[in-house]
Amino acid sequence: MRKFDARPARRVFGTLTVPGDKSISHRALILSGLAEGPSCVNGFLPSEDCLRSLAAMRALGVRIEQPHPTEVRIHGVGLRGLKAAPHALDMGNAGTAIRLFTGLLAAQAFSSRLIGDESLMSRPMERVAKPLREMGALVRTHDGKPPVDIEGGRRLHGIEYRMPVASAQVKSAILLAGLYADGPTTVIAPAVCRDHSERMLLSCGVRLESRGLSTTIHPPERLAAQQIEVPGDFSSAAFFIVAGLLGGAGDGLLLHNVGLNPTRTGLLDILRGMGADIEILNLRNSGAEPVADLRVRASALKGVAVPAALVPLAIDEFPVLFIAAACAAGQTVITGAEELRVKESDRIAAMSAGFKTLGVEHCVTPDGMRIEGRAAGPAFGGGEVDALGDHRIAMAFSVASLRAAQSIGIRDVANVATSFPGFVELARSVGLDVAVS
Ligand code: S3P
Repeated sequence: MRKFDARPARRVFGTLTVPGDKSISHRALILSGLAEGPSCVNGFLPSEDCLRSLAAMRALGVRIEQPHPTEVRIHGVGLRGLKAAPHALDMGNAGTAIRLFTGLLAAQAFSSRLIGDESLMSRPMERVAKPLREMGALVRTHDGKPPVDIEGGRRLHGIEYRMPVASAQVKSAILLAGLYADGPTTVIAPAVCRDHSERMLLSCGVRLESRGLSTTIHPPERLAAQQIEVPGDFSSAAFFIVAGLLGGAGDGLLLHNVGLNPTRTGLLDILRGMGADIEILNLRNSGAEPVADLRVRASALKGVAVPAALVPLAIDEFPVLFIAAACAAGQTVITGAEELRVKESDRIAAMSAGFKTLGVEHCVTPDGMRIEGRAAGPAFGGGEVDALGDHRIAMAFSVASLRAAQSIGIRDVANVATSFPGFVELARSVGLDVAVS
């Protein structure tokens, strides 16, 4: 089993570029596959999760070339050109892939089966199956989890669906099925969540109306092929943003070309509320998405109560936010984050177990955590923590080493490759002392 040994380096500095956005890479493959003719994707994230989506699209009959790991050319087959896969589609660890493909495949003329790794096989699927059934799809889960069996050849109807959770995966699955419905489909979210699907659908020429928390898709005749520039993944940048705040020397870290979609950047607002020195430079548009360079300098952080409205806008950043909170003066209170319990691991439990080993005072609640930070001296002891196969837990504890008294051993880290291939090399290049064994 792969392990990280994160030794207590104290300073980070330099310039870096994080790999492409995971959410956008999945969507680029799917929508380009449904478009008419060839689309090009630059800055594609060649991580294990996105390669699962790529393999699934190929299995469904889409020709895809990858002349370079981050460059993909997809020969779209049109909305009705997909073919039955010869086998079950294995989505590995990828929650986004299994949810989005469930929506897509619910509307096809053929049947499909979706499976995944041990973690994915225990994640909730009824959240997508239920609205798809309301549309007329035949989707079977097993105790609410994968395998997901989809019977094809169903006629889908447009619905109005109020999502019980602010989930971009659920919203996107419904919008994908909505491409094939016999009328408009409206999804109403309880709070703002990421809108990459909407932006890309609009770029493909789909008529889509967003009003506040409601999004309506009108089934199109066709999707236009595109040239897609994938920005750096804000969720990957988050580890280096916190690293820069904890250990930035001099001018700290400069992160190039980071996606700054406002539905993703809740962490920036939370950290700024904690006193973080983060400068946004050269804000610009890259296709349908805003990007910028970020300058992050060492900052004296103070604890805050995280506003509940920011939770869905920072949903993937909590593991590393917990690390920042442990290094902030006073208490940080996180509430309304029960979704963390159904991610690649139960992230509240996983972080709490690590905190116990490393001597961080904290209190777990059903929907979050209260963390007593230590602003002066080491905030963490040392010892061995378990990432539980969750990429973001592994990377968050790597960053903790900047403020640890001794080395932090991190078990079960192989899944870092699901979202951030090259993490260790990049971390080492700016001064973190992470070794793989
Ligand atoms: C994602 C949505 C979020 C996020 C996940 C990626 C997406 O999940 O946690 O990493 O690409 O749509 P939920 O929709 O379950 O909140």
